[in-house]
Amino acid sequence: MNYNTYKGLSESIRGGKADLVLKNARIIDVLTGRILEGSIAIKDGVILSVFDPYDRDMKNFPEAGKVIDLKNAYVSPGFMDAHLHLESTMVSPAELIATASRYGTTAFIVDPHEAANVSGADGIDYILDQTADSKANVYVMMPSCVPATPIDDNGCTFTAEDMKAYLDNDRILGLGEVMDDPAVIYADKSMYDKLELFREKNIDGHAPFLPDRELDIYALAGISTDHEASSYEYALKEAERGIHVHIREGSAAHNCADIVRGIVKDGISTDCFSFCTDDKHIEDILREGHIGANIRIAIKEGLSPIDAYRMATINTARTYGLKHLGAIAPGMQADLVILSDLENVSVIDVYYKGEKIEKTDDISIKPCPDKLKQTMHFKDVTPADFGLKILSDKTHVIGIDKKQITTTDYVVEIEKTDNYEPCRYVGSECGSENPVITGLLKIAAVERHKNTGKIGVALAKGYGLKGGAVASSVSHDSHNIIAIGDSDRDIAIAVNALKSSEGGYVLVEDGKVFEVLPLPIMGLMSDAGFANVNEKLQRMKKKAYEMGVDKDIDPFITLSFLALPVIPEIRITPRGLCKLDDSGLNLI
Ligand SMILES: [Fe+2]
Repeated sequence: MNYNTYKGLSESIRGGKADLVLKNARIIDVLTGRILEGSIAIKDGVILSVFDPYDRDMKNFPEAGKVIDLKNAYVSPGFMDAHLHLESTMVSPAELIATASRYGTTAFIVDPHEAANVSGADGIDYILDQTADSKANVYVMMPSCVPATPIDDNGCTFTAEDMKAYLDNDRILGLGEVMDDPAVIYADKSMYDKLELFREKNIDGHAPFLPDRELDIYALAGISTDHEASSYEYALKEAERGIHVHIREGSAAHNCADIVRGIVKDGISTDCFSFCTDDKHIEDILREGHIGANIRIAIKEGLSPIDAYRMATINTARTYGLKHLGAIAPGMQADLVILSDLENVSVIDVYYKGEKIEKTDDISIKPCPDKLKQTMHFKDVTPADFGLKILSDKTHVIGIDKKQITTTDYVVEIEKTDNYEPCRYVGSECGSENPVITGLLKIAAVERHKNTGKIGVALAKGYGLKGGAVASSVSHDSHNIIAIGDSDRDIAIAVNALKSSEGGYVLVEDGKVFEVLPLPIMGLMSDAGFANVNEKLQRMKKKAYEMGVDKDIDPFITLSFLALPVIPEIRITPRGLCKLDDSGLNLI
């Protein structure tokens, strides 16, 4: 706050002048843990005072420009999403922010990890630029793992040196999710340089499975938060080490109930917990809200409403050093959520800087620079590119785990051949007695950033598609093309279709493209609007399930994780199969 603003606001408090007074409110006071009856005076987007409920005549603020009687509705500080990736929602950043803010989330701490892995600094600048005028607080963490691992081919490298250009930007809060755990644990110097750069700021972690000693090193390295805990026991180990836990409830991961149940059972302090979504798609936001869904689940699991609202507001603000956010008190930014009840988190209105967010507000989407819409850099492929020689008695197969993003390494015996082609009809017609071999599909990763011509081909089991292929340019974390199918011909058709559409999802049925969902912004997002994206996506998902995709997986989201080497156990990359086990991450 500059001097003139401070001077003006202090005069307003002394003289009782406000732009807006919200009276007859039940204020969720996350500072003292009580519900206060009173009124809130606001000027220039800042809270001036929270004053006496019995001041019916507004003596405190006789010169209020506008007075709104809330008739005993609850008022919470604006909700804060402690960690999310805007690129993973497929729509433009502005559309996601605008939608979530209507459900009460007024602050977003985003990690443009996916954009940076495709387009480096240009991708980060895109996220900063697209959210600069949002009616919400959008902060950005510097992506720490670009690439996520040296074993993969991504679009760019983003080093500590590259990050220095962003240090003076007050929207940059620290270092984003550090997922290259081996680099932290074995004291890799380039990782140390990044950690050192942000030692006095926040450093987000990404450590789903670390044993105790490794977790000790993670804490030693200065990692201050993590959002990967999926059990209370692990969350507690992190909290005991001073790692603030963001409890995640998103489209793919649902960790809130389990962790909160443990917190309630043990009665531990909630000071070291916040809420995040990580990845939450618009259809889920429209169905159940955004961070409000985390609050609702936590209260349902027995947490006191005040603690749940604290985890959605002040805990996050304090963790990230955002002194002007997270509470309803003088000097705080007037980001407020008006609620008809506490437990169901039923949102009536949302205010950002003292202005009501209108549900009819148009979402203005800035144009995307052309270079970010041209990221499919590979030559047309042919069926022969997906040949797979079986030379050994033992063949590794990616086993797709149901309802998870983990995989299992199956080792099977397949007859030696110059090119293994999956049976087009699974089951007895395959002619095999071996239940592991039935249902095998080909899976391929095609490098798409630098036209290196690298294509990795392997076998996968558990996807279930018959008579076609599916391909995607959303493929964590390097976002090469990932394709799966039961014929080399259909896989080639699917991959070439993605090149024509500048990325997205494609579904091929028996030699013909059934549908393409273009995601031309870095091959990750569309600016065609949620309604258009969702209509195509639902049609494609329906068709994929009709073609046999297992109901316990998502045809596109599950596929998008099958090239992610940093999650156990076996993945395909453009360099071939790689496996993560006790000996580390290795090509096999
Ligand atoms: Fe994340």
